[in-house]
Amino acid sequence: MRNSRIQNLKPVRGWWRGRVQQMLHVPPSKIGTVLGLACTGHGASLALVTSEGALRSSVLERWAGVKRILLLAKDEDHDLRNPASAIDQHINFCMKYGYGAFPPSRIFEETISEWLGWFLKGLNLRPPDIDLVVVSDSHFATCGLRLGPRLGEWLPKAWVSDSITHHEIHQRQAFWQSGFEEAATLTLDAAGESLESLGGRTLSGTIAAMSDLPRCRTLSQMDFPQSSAGLLYEVVTRHVGFRLGDEGKTMGLAPYGERELLDRVLPQLTLHQDGSFSFYDHKQFRKLLQEYVPERWPDEEITQRHSNVAYAGQAILEQIVTNAFRAALRISGLKRLVYAGGVALNSVANEIAVRAAAPDAFYIAPNPGDPGHALGCALFGAYEIAAWKPQLRELHDYLGPEYSESEMIEACRDGAYPVEKVENPELVLARCIRNGYITARFAGAAEYGPRALGNRSILASPLSADMKDYLNARVKHRESFRPFAPAVLEECAPEWFDLKGPSPYMLRVVPVRESVRERIPAVVHVDGSCRVQTVSRKENPGFYRVIEAFRSLTGVPVVLNTSFNTAGNPIVETPSDAVECFASTHIDVLLLGPFLVSKLPLKEYDSPRNESVLTISSENP
Ligand SMILES: [Fe+2]
Repeated sequence: MRNSRIQNLKPVRGWWRGRVQQMLHVPPSKIGTVLGLACTGHGASLALVTSEGALRSSVLERWAGVKRILLLAKDEDHDLRNPASAIDQHINFCMKYGYGAFPPSRIFEETISEWLGWFLKGLNLRPPDIDLVVVSDSHFATCGLRLGPRLGEWLPKAWVSDSITHHEIHQRQAFWQSGFEEAATLTLDAAGESLESLGGRTLSGTIAAMSDLPRCRTLSQMDFPQSSAGLLYEVVTRHVGFRLGDEGKTMGLAPYGERELLDRVLPQLTLHQDGSFSFYDHKQFRKLLQEYVPERWPDEEITQRHSNVAYAGQAILEQIVTNAFRAALRISGLKRLVYAGGVALNSVANEIAVRAAAPDAFYIAPNPGDPGHALGCALFGAYEIAAWKPQLRELHDYLGPEYSESEMIEACRDGAYPVEKVENPELVLARCIRNGYITARFAGAAEYGPRALGNRSILASPLSADMKDYLNARVKHRESFRPFAPAVLEECAPEWFDLKGPSPYMLRVVPVRESVRERIPAVVHVDGSCRVQTVSRKENPGFYRVIEAFRSLTGVPVVLNTSFNTAGNPIVETPSDAVECFASTHIDVLLLGPFLVSKLPLKEYDSPRNESVLTISSENP
């Protein structure tokens, strides 16, 4: 675990108890700066928009340097971390408080003051300049009494609104980020909060029609827990030995499975016209899984039957998502579809559903789960409370704070590694990649979403079959089955991948064209697919130049792109995080802004690496 920025903070519990948060009506004309604030068990985030066009979003775990930091609030998630009871505890909590609310977030309260100061850095804004704070009831319900008075202390001039619900935030984030004038919006997750307006019902999915008036018509609501795609996948994930938040591992494991279990459980699945579904009660389903193969503990071997469980869970999810896509288009009568919620991170299901439903245009926000809520809240505040004229353009994902060259030089100050500022550093980096070395790129603003899209990325050659195993074992320190993603020049993508349209946020899994699979074996998953990222010159010119240079050297417009972190740690945020991660792993060369930092003098990387270095064997531990 890297150095944490929260280690010196003291708990401040106690003094706020019993105080009441006052919700106020906001005079729109006075709003020039809106802060969105999200805080659920899946993560916490901040987002800021101003009437002058500034936009910034960031998640707490990146700043704090601790992955899933909110789940580490020891006295609050103690029961949830007991694997034997985790799902039951989780469901009981969700039924009582709403899924989005868990767990109460003491760490959020203890860190927000310092975090907010860092977040506003370089924007020429201070906390007293914030006019409006938007939070959702699901975030405020469990900690409102606690957080409310403290918000008043940190943001003395701000008005506060909690008039938006969990699923409305998902919808708003995806819709306002898409740039569409009108679209059907589909949200699928595990669950939102318990809604008074629905007699205490908790939703796990919604379909709505949205346009930029603003207007939102809710068309369908799916109930937790019986029609919760997120919960179903969570049960499967837990059963195969991964924890909450590791659903991507289940997706990666699924192609190793066989149909045996799926054929047994599929008759229980009924898909409804309104986009919802019926399946086993979650307790029955867990019992059935347990009878099929005992729940795997995290360090145990993955058996074929565990892979079959992942296969069945993935296949069922794909049918549920496909049905919901079709329902959203049919019920709304609209041709464009916007999709959000944590289930939207399942990039395999996304591609299957979008091909089957065939909307005219399709958009998934790059941070579609709960950690993206801060941006949804901020955009809701800007366009629907402050009534600013919507900027109908697609928002990219490079929304984090940026760092200066002096901060980068400072991060290398101990002189442990050679640092050079060279002409055309992207070409030098591409040459290192071509020669088989592991590189990293730290540039500009960090990505807001969970995928590294080039600005906080480890980059390597896709050309060697051994590269995947080497990266998993020696650099990322993670399971050997985990695949790596290709980043491809956007205009070359159709030639290499069966992909229609762009995939800038790595949220689509598509087949690699058979004719080129052997040329890029390190990024082809066991079933011939990959989670592709298309890179355009307009959106990320620096990253584009790296891939373009790699193409000029090899004829292949594809590099392997994986997040700049190691297992169990969040993606690096600051220059010093980057240097620390570089120093502690087998990364050979780091492009830090305009500086090349290397373990050996740069000229040492001019000749190809000995291929045997990449071979993982007992002789080469
Ligand atoms: Fe959610």
